[in-house]
Amino acid sequence: MIPSHAIADAALERAQEQVRLSLSGRAPRPVVRGFFDEPTHTATFVVHDPESREAAVIDSVLDFDSASGTVSYAAADRVIDYVRLENLTVTWILETHVHADHLSAAPYLQGKLGGRLAIGRGIVEVQETFGKLFNAGTAFARTGAEFDRLFEDGDRFTLGGVAATILHVPGHTPADLAYVIGDAAFVGDTLFMPDYGTARADFPGGDARQLFRSIRRLLSLPDPTRLFLCHDYKAPGRDSFVTETDVAAQRAGNVHVRDGTAEDDFVEMRKARDRTLNAPRLIMPSIQVNMRGGRLPEPEANGTRYLKIPLTTDRG
Ligand SMILES: [Fe+2]
Repeated sequence: MIPSHAIADAALERAQEQVRLSLSGRAPRPVVRGFFDEPTHTATFVVHDPESREAAVIDSVLDFDSASGTVSYAAADRVIDYVRLENLTVTWILETHVHADHLSAAPYLQGKLGGRLAIGRGIVEVQETFGKLFNAGTAFARTGAEFDRLFEDGDRFTLGGVAATILHVPGHTPADLAYVIGDAAFVGDTLFMPDYGTARADFPGGDARQLFRSIRRLLSLPDPTRLFLCHDYKAPGRDSFVTETDVAAQRAGNVHVRDGTAEDDFVEMRKARDRTLNAPRLIMPSIQVNMRGGRLPEPEANGTRYLKIPLTTDRG
């Protein structure tokens, strides 16, 4: 039976078929290991094909103490240790989007583990917006050249015998991607746990209506599709961090977008809620670094790297 909310498009249909093959055992199910970074509430995932041991790392974290300006590598090193212990070959280092709440460790991981660095083609729009905000000058090309690959909706890759399909899921930012790998979908900042809801849609280029449509598209994947989330904040009454759920649980119980939620009601709720949210603690450092693919700004003449904070005033 075709569910009433079904959305038909070629990329989605391919992802649905890929998930079904993986769930049925006719294609391998990937192994997923999550690493939760408590200071930023971010989940990094390592996903691999159990046969070939080819792997991808998704949404890595670079530790950053903003008071002292200190960058450190403990979170990234935990991922590296796991990859080496499991004898994995990293072929992709993936970002779901330009994060505003943590710095990416992608270039550090690439230096240690290899692999190609990828993000959505919409990065170019995000670079344009934030290149202007930070007055980055012409040295910052805004072409996505910091990445080895810019994915579009429907693009595919493989991890050994495991197929992967890219879905463009704008709304939180214009560039957000979901990586559907075997029966596992890495949905970035679209959905959070069913008891917590959805991601904010008020960043530049964000759009609550687009977010709703992107989420309904993700929830058109088969019910048992594993969903891996970029963040968890614990919902009231829940004691532990959880970053894995499935389509069935989201459709039945997501507090913002379960089956039956009307698009207009979601948009109204999301906009009202976003008006109450503060800027993320690390937004200024995160965006300056992540718009460059996780590279720190070039050192100044004295050899030191600096981050900028554009100032605004309430006096107009
Ligand atoms: Fe985000």
